[in-house]
Amino acid sequence: MPDPQVALTTGANSGIGLATVLELARHGLHSVGTVRSKEKAREVAAAAKAEGLAVETTILDVTDAAACARVIDRFRPFAIVNNAGYSLTGAVEDVSDDEVRQGLETMLVAPIRLARLALPYMRERSAGRIVNVSSIFGVTTTPLIGWYQACKHALEAVSDALRAEVAGTGVKVILIEPGGIRTGIWSEAERELTGREGSRFEPSYRRLVSGTRMAQGLMGDPSQVARVIRRAVRARSPRPRYLVGYDAQAAAVLERVTPTAVRDRVTRTVLGL
Ligand code: NAI
Repeated sequence: MPDPQVALTTGANSGIGLATVLELARHGLHSVGTVRSKEKAREVAAAAKAEGLAVETTILDVTDAAACARVIDRFRPFAIVNNAGYSLTGAVEDVSDDEVRQGLETMLVAPIRLARLALPYMRERSAGRIVNVSSIFGVTTTPLIGWYQACKHALEAVSDALRAEVAGTGVKVILIEPGGIRTGIWSEAERELTGREGSRFEPSYRRLVSGTRMAQGLMGDPSQVARVIRRAVRARSPRPRYLVGYDAQAAAVLERVTPTAVRDRVTRTVLGL
C-alpha cells in the first residue's frame, strides 16, 4: 500500500485548525498539525485519540523562517493548510507598527513562505495543494478591523498570482473564505479591544464587542470549514476559492452591489463612528 499523503495544517490546536487535522485524518490523509508548545501537542493528541484517529504534531511558530524550512523538509507535504492566524483588531490609529508587522508575518509572509518551501517537492511529484485560510474579510472590509482585513486581502492577492504561476504543474492553490465561525478568535478580539483602553474609539469598540457577542449564536462550526478544506484537498480540480457559510455568501454579494459611500454610511451608523 502506498504511504498516505501528508497534509500539514498550521495552528492545529484549536478552532478551525483542530477540526481540520481531525477531518483530514478521518479521510485517510497522514495528518500533521503544527502547534507552538508541547502542551498544545498533547491537547491535539488527546482530541485525536478520543476519536481513534492518528494525528501527528510538530512544534512550529510560523513566524520562524528556519523552523518553517525544517518542518517542510521533514514532512514534504502533499498539502499545506495555512490556517494559523489571530484577530488583529483595532482602529487604524490604535494599531502600532509592531502589531502590524506581527500580523503580516503570521498571516501573509509565513503562509506564502511555507508554500514556496513546499513547492519544489510538489513540483517533483506533479501534485500538491496549497490551501490558504483567508476570510470573508479577505473580500470585504469594515472599520475597526482594517489591518486584519489587509492581511487577508493581501493573502488573496498573492494566492491568486501563485495559482496562475503554478497552473499546469499539478499544484492547486485554494483560498478558503469563512464567514463567522465560533472559535476562540472572538474572545481574543474582545480581549484585544478591552486592552485598547483610553482610545477615542472605545464607544465603537463596545458596539463591536456586543455585536459580535450577539452574532456568536448564529456563527458556523469549525467542522463546517474543515469539511470544505478536506473536499478542496481531495478534489482533482478544486475551485480557486470557497466561501463558507451563508453570511459569507451574502456579504460577498453585497460587496459587489453596494456603492462604497452607502457601505460607509451603514457601517458608521452601526458602529457609531
Ligand atoms: P483560533 O484562535 O482557534 O486558531 C488560530 C490558531 O493559530 C491557534 O491554534 C494559534 O495557536 C495559531 N497561531 C497563531 N499565531 C501563530 C503563529 N505565529 N505560529 C503558529 N501558530 C499560530 O482561531 P480560528 O478562528 O480557528 O482561526 C483559524 C484561521 O481561520 C485564522 O487564519 C483566521 O483568521 C481564520 N478565520 C476565522 C474565522 C472565524 O470566524 N473564526 C473567519 C474567517 C477566517
